[in-house]
Amino acid sequence: MNEPLPVVRLKNAWKSTHPWIFQRLVEKPAQRPKPGSVVDVVGVDDVWIGRGFYNGHSRIALRMLEGDPDVAVDEAWFSRRIADAVALRRELLKLDEVGNAWRVLHSEGDGISGLVVDRYDDLLVVGFFSAGAWRYREWIFNALREQFPGCRFHSFADEHVQKQESFDYKDTMGTQPALIHEHGIAFNADPAGAHKTGFFADQRENRQWLSQLCAGQRVLDLCCNTGGFGVYAAVRGASEVVGIDIDADVLEIARANAKLNHVKPKFIQADIFPWLRDAGLNGEQFDVVILDPAKMTRDREQVIPALKKYLDMNKLALGVVKPGGLFATFSCTGLVSEEQFTDMLRRAAFYAGRTVQVLKVAGAGPDHPWLAQVPESRYLKAVFCRVVD
Ligand SMILES: C[S@@+](CC[C@H](N)C(=O)[O-])C[C@H]1O[C@@H](n2cnc3c(N)ncnc32)[C@H](O)[C@@H]1O
Repeated sequence: MNEPLPVVRLKNAWKSTHPWIFQRLVEKPAQRPKPGSVVDVVGVDDVWIGRGFYNGHSRIALRMLEGDPDVAVDEAWFSRRIADAVALRRELLKLDEVGNAWRVLHSEGDGISGLVVDRYDDLLVVGFFSAGAWRYREWIFNALREQFPGCRFHSFADEHVQKQESFDYKDTMGTQPALIHEHGIAFNADPAGAHKTGFFADQRENRQWLSQLCAGQRVLDLCCNTGGFGVYAAVRGASEVVGIDIDADVLEIARANAKLNHVKPKFIQADIFPWLRDAGLNGEQFDVVILDPAKMTRDREQVIPALKKYLDMNKLALGVVKPGGLFATFSCTGLVSEEQFTDMLRRAAFYAGRTVQVLKVAGAGPDHPWLAQVPESRYLKAVFCRVVD
């Protein structure tokens, strides 16, 4: 028989369907379970509420996982959740037909808070964003092996997560990159050499949509990373592609990606701010401009400065779009809402003296689902516009 789980009691009535319960609402148990342990949660009236990961060291003390008292959160539970997430991608979304690089599991959106898994061909990149996901990692690896027999793993936990969630994890090192393809275009996904998980699968549908408007166009890919938008544009027949990124290492991968697809974008290592100022002064103009900067902040207090930075870079980028040209602008800062982002764009257009016609607002691909009650896991905002004059 299974050992009974430790019980954690709430201090106040709790009605929310959000899976997180914050520390101030949770009584400190006399015997503290280890960070990330699965516990039974009871309300202030001692009525059972659910099961979840408990972490007495984290601001998010509970991450609820299961609401059925008859269902144990054990190895089989992880295996079922992961199988469900894979079935969504394979059977409903039919992502195998699009490519071999997709998000396998997106944290709360797929019912395991703090676990992110990307799949790049045979390579699974596993990110731990909660002590619970880290504590039960062997069950998670086993469940992933069931779904992807013979797979390789690269796993990591960001330093700030380890600090906040109070666990220690050494990333796996020296992982060989994977050769992936999406919409018929090839890339190297290199979790050891590039940012985050090694490739931004979240932009797949946005790259595809925009690239179909790029034939014969002069394209500027700002913050190009490993060349995603730029390589797509070049493959779809852009007359010229310039990609800018501040990081020399990702540009090496971008150049290799261009070679893989037999195209020749020009990749330049530069900070986009001075580069755009110079380009503006030199009267450079592009038919299509893409601006996909890195996440600005994860601190609520820093949202205003982040919006100011977005404003400055969007204003500069708008300055190099040809009249009638396209501008695709993105924000992957979860704390910046779509409304705040489109309002920033309104102000950027005003200060740049341009008329911006919004064609389409989008987000990450459907392999990055989010629960309606957890809007903060919807991080990517995508706005496609025409710069009328
Ligand atoms: C979210 S990634 C872009 C992903 C890319 N569009 C793709 O499809 O793979 C953000 C990139 O912005 C770059 N970056 C951040 N600040 C920058 C700056 N001031 N100038 C140029 N690049 C910058 C980072 O090095 C990173 O590669």
